[in-house]
Parts: sequence; structure tokens; C-alpha cells
Amino acid sequence: MKVQFTETVLRDANQSLIATRLPFEKFEGILSTMDKAGYYSVECWGGATFDSCLRFLNEDPWERLRKIRAAMPNTKLQMLLRGQNLLGYKHYPDDVVRKFVERSIANGIDIIRIFDALNDLRNLEVAVDETNKNNGHASIAISYTTSPVHTIKKFAAMVKDMEKMGAKSICIKDMAGVMSPQEATDLVKAIKDACSLPLVLHTHCTTGLAFMTCLKAVEAGADVIDTAISCFSGGTSQPATETLVYALKQMGYETDIDEKVLVEINNYFKPIRDEYLASGLLDPKVMATDTQALNYKIPGGMLSNLISQLKMQNAIDKLDEVLLETPRVREDLGYPPLVTPMSQMVGVQAANNVLLGERYKNIGKEVKAYCRGEYGQAPGKLNPELVKKALGDEKPITGRFADTLEPQFEKTKAELGDTARSDEDVLSYIAFPQIAEKFFAARKAEEEKHVKYTIEPLKEDK
Ligand code: CO
Repeated sequence: MKVQFTETVLRDANQSLIATRLPFEKFEGILSTMDKAGYYSVECWGGATFDSCLRFLNEDPWERLRKIRAAMPNTKLQMLLRGQNLLGYKHYPDDVVRKFVERSIANGIDIIRIFDALNDLRNLEVAVDETNKNNGHASIAISYTTSPVHTIKKFAAMVKDMEKMGAKSICIKDMAGVMSPQEATDLVKAIKDACSLPLVLHTHCTTGLAFMTCLKAVEAGADVIDTAISCFSGGTSQPATETLVYALKQMGYETDIDEKVLVEINNYFKPIRDEYLASGLLDPKVMATDTQALNYKIPGGMLSNLISQLKMQNAIDKLDEVLLETPRVREDLGYPPLVTPMSQMVGVQAANNVLLGERYKNIGKEVKAYCRGEYGQAPGKLNPELVKKALGDEKPITGRFADTLEPQFEKTKAELGDTARSDEDVLSYIAFPQIAEKFFAARKAEEEKHVKYTIEPLKEDK
């Protein structure tokens, strides 16, 4: 029996605990050590890292990836990709998705974990196909949630389709950390029965279930678990790598992990964690256990968003009503998993329904687009009255939304001209236009400073 580990400190732990504010130079010094730890993979790119590099850290995300690749030649590098949304919240045309996947692999990614918020497989197929074409490893993730329409049988059937589509592994992605040990046992068994692919479990410690859930998942046959080095584990992050290695080894599981290397890695990150605690960017609250998500069946992040939204509108006394309305809106929308961008969409609509004193008096732009089918197929049936109110006589799309989008890459490349120095720059711009533009300008200004500096001594020669 063997179990393997994906280390998340550079991506999900970084994103969940410190809003993805870890600059490359802070972790550069430990990469060659991490390369010797024996991980199945290191999740280091995608998700919010790309946006954060450009927006807050003044780093070229592509260059970051190339540098990680160079420092870790022996480890599989992994990224998170939101299917047809890539790293953002809207659908991109297929040519952009293909180019993004191709360049990600060319710059050093081995494993691309691809998911869709609605589990609409049509939103995954282009990214999966392109990953396979470029000899990458396409790991298809199920966005895990519970609802009357999300049954074990349906998840198992979905996994069969994912295998047919070209997945090289399956991941159960429990972004809210609400999967219980019993649910993990049942779902892992059902998936292992339905397909022959390696199975990865991804969860968060938010509600305190994660260690038990990982243990039960491994007992039920999960091959890989996502964990974070201990000083960046717990709370909204993943369970601790060292703890699970210790417990599972004692139970007779084989691992490739070198525990001495884990000690070195943790010692390296400890002062970094302390620095973020001191600066306030790491709030000790996110490292604690919060079981509210289990009571309300909504993710912790969504709950804190709702609370701050109601506070801003001086309506915090309406919180209980909004919490009762939230599952009703979710039901009307056909039970979407409450993951970005659905969690925001459902939360804002529920708050509007309560604050305006009438359900769907004001229907948000995103909810309308959702009803139109722009996000894909809902897991369950939409409430027909809501659809009528949202769309009037307009007919929803039945096909794949991306099929309605014009190719964009070559056109944008031509428009950008010299501003973009590479295809990677063009992709950064397509993903986050304003932020990328600012970044390009800052990069140019920085270089001009250096040019002046090197020209000056030449002048003296004259
Ligand atoms: Co996660």
C-alpha cells in the first residue's frame, strides 16, 4: 500500500492563508531542498498566483514558473486551472484556452488540475485535449458539494466520462472543507470502482474534518492527498504534510517522502509565517477551526463575505434571514456548487432578495447570464419562474457558451504590437488586461533605469 503527497505551500496554502502574497524571492532558497522531499507533485502555479504576481508582487508569472522549473528539475510541477475560465471568472474562446495550456506546459508545468465550478464537462474538454496533445498530465477535478442532485452514483458516472475524455487522474476537490470522513469513504470507494485512474483528494482544514477525511480517503483507496508543510497548514489551508506522513507510515503505508527534508522545509518557512503574522497579512483567525460551514452548508469564505456585505449596508440584523434564503436561491439555480463565482452570485442574490423585501425583485447581471447558460449546464433544474423573470422571452443557450466566442489570441497579439514581447505576455494581457498593461509599463520603466545606469560609464570613455 502506497500513498503519495502533493505539497501546496506555494499555491493553495499561500492563497488560503496569506492572500497569495508570497513573492518568488521568499521561497527561492528552499526550492532545491523541496526538490528532494519525494513529493508526488508540488502545486505551485495557477489559481490566484497568476493574478497576484501581476497585481501585487510586480512579478511576471511566467518567469516565476520558469525559475521554479529550473530550481526543481526532479519534481512534477502542478497548476490549478478553471477549465474554460482559465484563471479568471469568464469564459475564454478555445484558441486562448489552447494557447494558455500549451504555454503553461512549455514553461514547465507537468500536471494541470482542471475543474469547472458547475462540473459541466463541456467546459473542461478543450483544456484536457490540449494538455494531452502537449504530453501534459490532465487531472480532472470534481467540484465537490452536497445537494439532492449530487449523488454518489452521479459522481461515479461523471468520473467515467472524465476517463473517456482523457483524464490521467481524478481529483475530488472539496474547496469548502465540508467533506466528512464517511462521505470520503463512500465517494472514494465509488470512484475507485468506477474507473482505474489514480485518485487525489483535495480538502481544507476549515471545519476541522480534513485529517480524518484524508485518513478515511486513503483507507478507501485514494492514491494521493494534498497537504501543506505544517507551519503553513491548518485553518483554511490543507492539513499538515508531516502529521499525515507520520500517521500513515505507522499504519503501514509506504511513502516516498523523506521526513528529514520536511523538517528543513518547515524550518525555512517558519520565520516567513511569523513575518506574515507580524505584518497582519496572516490573520490567526484563518488558522483556527470554524465549524459554521457545516451548520449552514455554505463555505466559510462565503459566510464572511455575506457578513461584511450586510455590515456595509447596515443590515447585519438580517443575517439569519439571508442564511435561510441562501439555500433557497441555490435550489432555484439548480444546486450549483458554492465555489467562485457561484458562491458570490448566490450570496449577493440571497441578500438582495431579503433586503429588498421581495424575492428576485432585482436580478443580478451574473444570475441573468447564468440563467442564459453562459456558465454551462446547472447540475439540477432551474426554477422556471426565475428563468422567466430573468430572461423574459429570450431563449437560453443550449450549446457550449465558448462556441459562441470569436477567436481572440492572434487579434490581441496584433493589437498589442511591441507592448507584448512574447505569446506569454499576450496571454497575461488577455487574462488581466489593465493589470498586465500596468505591469508591462512598470517593467519597461525599470529596464530604462538600468539602461541609463549602464550607459553612463560609456559616456566617460568619450
Ligand atoms: Co483548495
